[in-house]
Amino acid sequence: MKKIFLSITLALITIVGLSACGKSSDKKVSSTDTKVLNQVKKDGKLTVATSADFPPFEFQILKDGKNQIIGADIDMAQKIADKLNLKLEIQNTDFNTVLTSLQAGKSDIAISGISAQPERRKTFDFSETYYESVNKVVIKKSEAAKLKTIASLKGKQVGAQKGSIQESIVTDQLKSSDLISIAKIPTLVNELKNGKISGLVLEEPIAKAYVNNNPDLVIADIALKSSTDDAYAIALPKNSGKLKVEIDAVIKELKASGAIDKAIQKNFEIANNQN
Ligand code: ARG
Repeated sequence: MKKIFLSITLALITIVGLSACGKSSDKKVSSTDTKVLNQVKKDGKLTVATSADFPPFEFQILKDGKNQIIGADIDMAQKIADKLNLKLEIQNTDFNTVLTSLQAGKSDIAISGISAQPERRKTFDFSETYYESVNKVVIKKSEAAKLKTIASLKGKQVGAQKGSIQESIVTDQLKSSDLISIAKIPTLVNELKNGKISGLVLEEPIAKAYVNNNPDLVIADIALKSSTDDAYAIALPKNSGKLKVEIDAVIKELKASGAIDKAIQKNFEIANNQN
């Protein structure tokens, strides 16, 4: 018995010792480290993962018979590509694979209205934040008189985009509702229009854009809590060093000149004139 105890203790000491050792040798990458930046620059293009179902930040329009992805995030991506002297390549994918594709090295960075929450910060570096979001519930106009409180959504199905922080808004703040997770926002919007779900949690500018294009929908008078942790930032690989410095400089400049707000407004108007 004693022997077993002793060997377990020894094993534990070894594990603790090894992990401590791992930590101390795990050097922190400095902001002058150009390794990731050089890697990105190698092929002459900046590959940006996004989920283009998110007006006014990233969405698709038909231009000259061709699908084109535009938005405030895309404008920002272009500015970054220009600064780094790279060609911009947008990689459109479902939101729940945007961060995994970055992690797998399939894209250089991800710009997709991504909330830089602490949980995500464990896996990725994030740029400076560039937009503070507020959560809203979109409902059918015909139900607006009935659905005015969190309690009125009790037992009802409420949608959120798969992989988004809105999933936890539903599970944490709309505890008595059932969460329906779906990959694409337009699909969620259709489910709402068809009465398959009763509500849909979206951040305000996106909610407004969809409501503007769907006169049968409206933003409910239901107050949800948002946190400053929900603010948007660009996701980068861990230890991005100099790449993060370059990107932060672009964001700081765009924020200071008011260009981000202008791009949001401009793209919001384009999104509104879609139908
Ligand atoms: N801000 C939310 C999040 O980070 C939603 C982002 C969804 N983005 C999109 N392009 N569909 O989870």
